[in-house]
Amino acid sequence: MAVKLQGRNLLSMKDLSGDEIHAILALAHDIKAHRAKWWHAAPLGGQTLGMLFQKPSLRTRVSFETGMARLGGHAIYLSPVDFQLGKRETVEDVAIVLSRYVDVIMARVFEHEIVAELAKYATCPVINGLSDFEHPCQILADLQTIQEWKGGLKGRTLNYIGDGNNVAHSLMFGGARVGMNVTVTTPPGFEPSGLVLAEAAEIGRATGATVRVVHDAAEGAKGADVLYTDVWASMGQEAEAEARKAKFQGFQINAGLLSHAKKDAIILHCLPAHYGEEIDYAASRTPNSAIFDQAENRMHAQNALLVLVMGAAGKSAPKPKPAATPAAKPKPKPRPARGRSRR
Ligand code: CP
Ligand code: NVA
Repeated sequence: MAVKLQGRNLLSMKDLSGDEIHAILALAHDIKAHRAKWWHAAPLGGQTLGMLFQKPSLRTRVSFETGMARLGGHAIYLSPVDFQLGKRETVEDVAIVLSRYVDVIMARVFEHEIVAELAKYATCPVINGLSDFEHPCQILADLQTIQEWKGGLKGRTLNYIGDGNNVAHSLMFGGARVGMNVTVTTPPGFEPSGLVLAEAAEIGRATGATVRVVHDAAEGAKGADVLYTDVWASMGQEAEAEARKAKFQGFQINAGLLSHAKKDAIILHCLPAHYGEEIDYAASRTPNSAIFDQAENRMHAQNALLVLVMGAAGKSAPKPKPAATPAAKPKPKPRPARGRSRR
């Protein structure tokens, strides 16, 4: 089905229909498989991405910046010191001014309302590069990785174990949209938003997916195709980190938890990881761990998103010219006749 993503914002995984997610993933696979063709075509030539970061980043910054460069465009990194949203300048003015310079904005923020306000006032598309509430770009890469390792999404079961945070919210929406069952396992008191649970479950009723929250680690992992976790204390929650450690004991991906999942279950983690807390190091390095494919796919999935949002999907490289007929080998020069008489 044809999808229209040109000019669109991506603030929440809920914003995307199942068909739109599949269109992004199909293009992500194509860009990954034929990257030389896409790099050569430079479909985002002349385009600039403005990147606003209120929080630290390795993957999001580097995957967006490198992705733009590979596709012929340019990305500008703006640290919190550069814009100080709401302090040096209002969110509204930042959105309006940036829109006069750049073609697309990506923002990593604390309050989700900030990225929503940027989108309200910007005249170019705005992409959520993580807010306290959602992390949709991460989930596009996760779904791409699950397709690669599990051959599909519909009917698969993902168990997210840990804090009911931004990543959990986007997984619930994204999973429900594509018909993937999502179980979120948390200690009591750390459940995802009840509203997200209700909305994702509603979406799931239409796509055949179940979305639920449980508190027992073994119960959550039972029969899972995918075990996924994230840090117990997110960026901005550093002061709670020690108190959370005690409350999250037993909510770790390790060999014991894997024994409850399907034999061929894969392991995902959005990274950065705190080894020995939400995942043990050995589990992260098993042959079924896809965590580094997942990190790589951030770039491919976001490249696909950018190409579609910028309306540049038709700009892939021209078909390679048919190979020129090899030039006929030059005829060997006649050798001088042997036995020439000596002069
Ligand atoms: N997974 C993720 O978003 O990583 P960064 O925080 O390093 O960008
Ligand atoms: N939940 C984590 C995700 C990091 C990619 C955080 O917000 O810090």
